[in-house]
Amino acid sequence: MAVRKSLKSLFKPHLAALNAYTAVEPPEVLAQRYGVPLDKVAKLDANENPYGPSPSLAKALADQKGYSIYPDPLQRNVREALAAYTNTTPDRVIAGAGCDELIDLLVRLIVGPRDSVIDLPPTFGMYAVATHLEAGNVVTVPRNELFDVDVDAIRRRVHDRTKIIFLCNPNNPTGNLTPESTIRQLAELGPLLVVDETYHEFCGFTAAGLLDEFENLVVLRSLSKWAGLAGMRLGYGIMSPELVHQLMVIKQPYNISVASEVALFASLDDTDTLLQRVRTIVEERERMVAQMKKQRGIRVFPSKGNFLICRLTTKPAQQVHLELAKRGLFVRYFNTEPLKDCLRITVGLPEHTDRLAAALREILEK
Ligand SMILES: Cc1ncc(COP(=O)(O)O)c(C=O)c1O
Repeated sequence: MAVRKSLKSLFKPHLAALNAYTAVEPPEVLAQRYGVPLDKVAKLDANENPYGPSPSLAKALADQKGYSIYPDPLQRNVREALAAYTNTTPDRVIAGAGCDELIDLLVRLIVGPRDSVIDLPPTFGMYAVATHLEAGNVVTVPRNELFDVDVDAIRRRVHDRTKIIFLCNPNNPTGNLTPESTIRQLAELGPLLVVDETYHEFCGFTAAGLLDEFENLVVLRSLSKWAGLAGMRLGYGIMSPELVHQLMVIKQPYNISVASEVALFASLDDTDTLLQRVRTIVEERERMVAQMKKQRGIRVFPSKGNFLICRLTTKPAQQVHLELAKRGLFVRYFNTEPLKDCLRITVGLPEHTDRLAAALREILEK
């Protein structure tokens, strides 16, 4: 019998060498870890929607009879509904289990070992993770001090094996928007340009108007934030029909569950409620910015998302994060440049904003 090697020796070396993505923890875990009652947990760390999904969702899920049957692998009704919502045609749309799945599928389709992907940090982490999973090379072109992208620097880093440029817009975690003129310049560079518009509904801006002009342009969206469906896992992409076709070939056949389909239709039937909530969140964001501006020890940056980033000028972010966590307020913190001593705070309910403001006053002024 052959001598069995260690299990790890069976793993692909580039995957064995990876560190896990630091994803956020569920409320129960946070409550237990920091010793706070579950009903005191304000989860302001993952840009989730504090109002939850459409009120019609629970009944729609209960009424659905098709859970024992596989969902449509071609996502016919789903793509049709999304095409109507985004004013395009179904052949230009594909749905995924979250925007995350579409990032992963695009990289899987296009990036091979030693191909390059351009990443514009500080930005969403999954572009680099997906690239590393394919043994691709992540080429980082940092944003400037106002977190704007540097087109000339990007142009200098594009070469034959540059396959994708990822642009998060508005950018998570910095909240700023890249204008259409810059997106156009990036699309002209040649590689696939993936514009991640997960926070689109909070700002209204889209690059989708450029899709007819650039077949190398992809717009990604999510229902996690505006529709309050982060737990349901539902995202989609708008792109050239040729690209949709090839992604349909490589995706898991039943990637959108029947429950996710139900959630999508319920949300698209109730956009009045959901988009009114989006407006409430945007107003609350501005109230939060105004409060923070008054707080000594904080510099707040403008944001177009349902979150904002602020820099602590008198105390380390890690310490403030811990102090907030002990009070049941969970936010993200960063301790490396260019976001050293920054917190990213999701816009929650008005009561969350008030608790946060009081807590920051206590922590920063003691
Ligand atoms: C910029 C960005 N893209 C994608 C995602 C993932 O979205 P989804 O929940 O649809 O997978 C997130 C989640 O926070 C995000 O911030």
